[in-house]
Amino acid sequence: METLFKSAPLTRAIEAVVAAAGSDAREARLVAENLVTANLLGHDSHGIGMIPRYIDAVLEGGLAPNQHPKATLDAGALLAVDGCKGYGQVIGGESMQMAIERAKQHGACVMTLANAHHLGRIGHWAEMAVAQGFVSIHFVNVISHARVAPYGGRDARFGTNPCCIGIPLPGEAPFVLDYATSAVAQGKLRVAHNKGEKVPPGRLIDPEGNPSTDPRYAVIPPYGAMLAFGEHKGYGMALACELLGGALTGGGTWHYEESTKQRVMNGMLAIVIDPKRLGTAAAFEREARLFLDWLRKSRPAPGFDRVRIAGEPEREMRARRSRDGVPVDDNTWREILRAADKVKLARERVETLARGE
Ligand SMILES: NC(=O)c1ccc[n+]([C@@H]2O[C@H](COP(=O)([O-])OP(=O)(O)OC[C@H]3O[C@@H](n4cnc5c(N)ncnc54)[C@H](O)[C@@H]3O)[C@@H](O)[C@H]2O)c1
Repeated sequence: METLFKSAPLTRAIEAVVAAAGSDAREARLVAENLVTANLLGHDSHGIGMIPRYIDAVLEGGLAPNQHPKATLDAGALLAVDGCKGYGQVIGGESMQMAIERAKQHGACVMTLANAHHLGRIGHWAEMAVAQGFVSIHFVNVISHARVAPYGGRDARFGTNPCCIGIPLPGEAPFVLDYATSAVAQGKLRVAHNKGEKVPPGRLIDPEGNPSTDPRYAVIPPYGAMLAFGEHKGYGMALACELLGGALTGGGTWHYEESTKQRVMNGMLAIVIDPKRLGTAAAFEREARLFLDWLRKSRPAPGFDRVRIAGEPEREMRARRSRDGVPVDDNTWREILRAADKVKLARERVETLARGE
């Protein structure tokens, strides 16, 4: 069962839970808006369902409210930032704004961001740069639980390491490619397991390293592992995320046994480029336009209505969910109310706010 919530009151309810866990009003708003936006765009795995984990992480001391990023190096086009274990929704936004300022000045900025708590949808940060006319490229590692096996390995050694590329396009909404390098999101495997469904081949291995279509191996012991998308190619990209997001930033890589902690740390290498400064702006506009027009003449394959580019499915979902409401399943909602209990916020208050009363 699920309930449809309008995004504005749902944001107020989530904001109240975050504030009750010690965040100032601005931080609570930014966290809530970011998570509800992920739901609006259809990425429920990175939406308000993260709140119980965030609250546990605050209570465990792995996530520190009311932090701001600290520049540890500010040298022209090179910027290194410490996220101070703060909410990724604040740390991500403020450090991206610093990178954008440097890119305005120098034409580009290479930023390392270490020790940020969960940055949520990485596309959110690319969109921020793209909205100001910049190309934005992101490699991110995840310090949470090892979930994904190396190509040729039989056990999980790293996380779902996302990567993202945002490109502003002439005369239309931007290209925003944003995904985990695991073949399928962990949350989707849990749903399949609960429904007793199999998953398509190529997503999972059992504890012996054999291919499996049984989602239990990602959900309950004995664990197998998820696979990276695209065999050795996606695996290589996942490692690039670990090396650039974890090692190059100094934030840390995954190299220890399973942790029971609830915090999710992200390291991110972000490269922000001002395309106008490369002297190719007119050619870019012309060639991008010609290519996209050509691409979209492709005849739809069976089962498809048309060819889309990255970013379009999220925009379509946003239009639908802004109109109809954001679906929240009963389990997720119960866990959010339990999180409210933990920070001594009355459940009735959360329910009342979410209904817009
Ligand atoms: N912060 C973290 O630790 C972390 C970790 C993993 C994932 N994430 C986030 O999770 C989110 C979901 O990741 P995912 O791997 O489930 O994404 P996904 O598999 O849904 O892929 C999404 C990408 O594919 C594009 N896409 C989808 N359908 C398309 C179509 N028909 N034509 C063209 N392009 C299409 C989308 O526009 C988007 O760019 C992402 O926002 C990612 O940043 C975050």
